Amino acid sequence: MKRLRIGALASGGGTNLQAIIDRAADGSLAVDVVLVISNKADAGALERARQAGISALYIDHRPYSDRRDYDRAIVAALMEAGVDTVVLAGFMRIVTDVLIDAFPQRILNIHPALLPAFPGLHVQKKALDYGARFAGCTVHLVDGGVDTGPIVAQAVVPVLDNDDEASLSARILVQEHKLYPLALQLLAEGRLQVDGRRVRVSGAAPENVALINPPCPEST
Ligand code: GAR
Repeated sequence: MKRLRIGALASGGGTNLQAIIDRAADGSLAVDVVLVISNKADAGALERARQAGISALYIDHRPYSDRRDYDRAIVAALMEAGVDTVVLAGFMRIVTDVLIDAFPQRILNIHPALLPAFPGLHVQKKALDYGARFAGCTVHLVDGGVDTGPIVAQAVVPVLDNDDEASLSARILVQEHKLYPLALQLLAEGRLQVDGRRVRVSGAAPENVALINPPCPEST
């Protein structure tokens, strides 16, 4: 199996990035994270990359008045590194057609809600405020919309009566750390077939990608 060459874009602490790095290191995920780019100089994700011996690049978005120009800079760095798959891991920017067209159907995002419910920001709070009984996370292919691309995998967590935004977010994050490596492994194995909005998984039981408290790979 050809290992994916992953470029990760991240704005924050980078725990999803870390989960992917860890799974690649323990051999359960056939990817190499070759470059991490952040629009935040102090992003924990950059430090995690450095600790793992991965190239870490800060590209400030503020000098770019046009989002597409910023994405051109990102695409150039990704191409230079020989990336074939882009992983958005807490990247808090809307990406443009410049990035999407450079990596057609090779950009994944993780979102801390059960899409199509609650796209956008602060979605764990939105789920609580709405009174939803279930929340969760979604891995999806990135298209031109905000959190609208074809869904690859989802994990569900119950909303508990005493949950607040922090407790629900933490419980969802545990599932994110399992779901993202799982989705990437399916991609690496060439098992994802995109058919319009539907993403079919060859050779997998449906529960592998529609999970309620998915099985835990060791040491997550
Ligand atoms: C994660 O919960 C991820 O789903 C979310 O940001 C967090 C990043 O955490 N992403 C989005 O909301 C994207 N719109 P991390 O930096 O620890 O991986």
